[in-house]
Amino acid sequence: MRITLIAGNWKMNKSHLEAMRLVQEIGHELADVNPQKVEVVVCPPFTALRTIQTLIDADRYELVLGAQNMYLAEEGAFTGEISAGMLKALNVTYVVLGHSERREILGESDDEVNAKVKMAFEAGLTPLICCGETESEHAAEQTRSKVEHQVQAALAGVRPDQVRSAVIAYEPIWAIGTGQTATPADAQATIAYIRSMVADMVGPDVAGAMRLLYGGSVKAGNAKALMSQSDIDGALVGGASLEAAEFSSIVKAVT
Ligand code: PGA
Repeated sequence: MRITLIAGNWKMNKSHLEAMRLVQEIGHELADVNPQKVEVVVCPPFTALRTIQTLIDADRYELVLGAQNMYLAEEGAFTGEISAGMLKALNVTYVVLGHSERREILGESDDEVNAKVKMAFEAGLTPLICCGETESEHAAEQTRSKVEHQVQAALAGVRPDQVRSAVIAYEPIWAIGTGQTATPADAQATIAYIRSMVADMVGPDVAGAMRLLYGGSVKAGNAKALMSQSDIDGALVGGASLEAAEFSSIVKAVT
């Protein structure tokens, strides 16, 4: 019932020309993928969204477009920012919100993430909300309290029918780009905890329908073990999403 979701977060990589090539390679590699079984999302930088959306439409790739961020206001004097409506107009479906790099490097707060989540829903986008603990929080066994706080804050005031369609990615910060991953059992335990928390907030029905992902050094070699855990519905992939063959192998490994 929960369709597996594999999302590639390209971060600040690929010019729009490089992005064109990458999406064509991924599209060819995954030509036979069944969208009823796995939803494959690519999240290029803003500068490549338009080009990629055109290619997905023209070549009928079974790929879905995501953005990596947006601003929390509808429009106005916010130099350098991009609105949810602008993304929607480009046929963007998903928007990554609250990635740890934005929280840690760019100082994004829980309140901002919450405002963005609401704004995304208003514009008809689906937020892909990130949460996760730092290495020191991990060592201090504060993983649950950290993700609980982040998820509660991100979903505060969000309607249950919206929560149902939202996606949450649990990404331990110490696992991002490091080659270290949470063990499948640890990732499952934290993600099951997030699901039980969401159930307490909005009911087991909504929590049971919601897709929860793991992120942090997911590769073709470890994807299957992680994704076969009962509460893990997919992956948010960074580094490995920049190579068509590796990213496609992750998708194939879970189907
Ligand atoms: P990684 O990044 O796969 O390179 O660890 C994951 C992410 O930041 O979403």
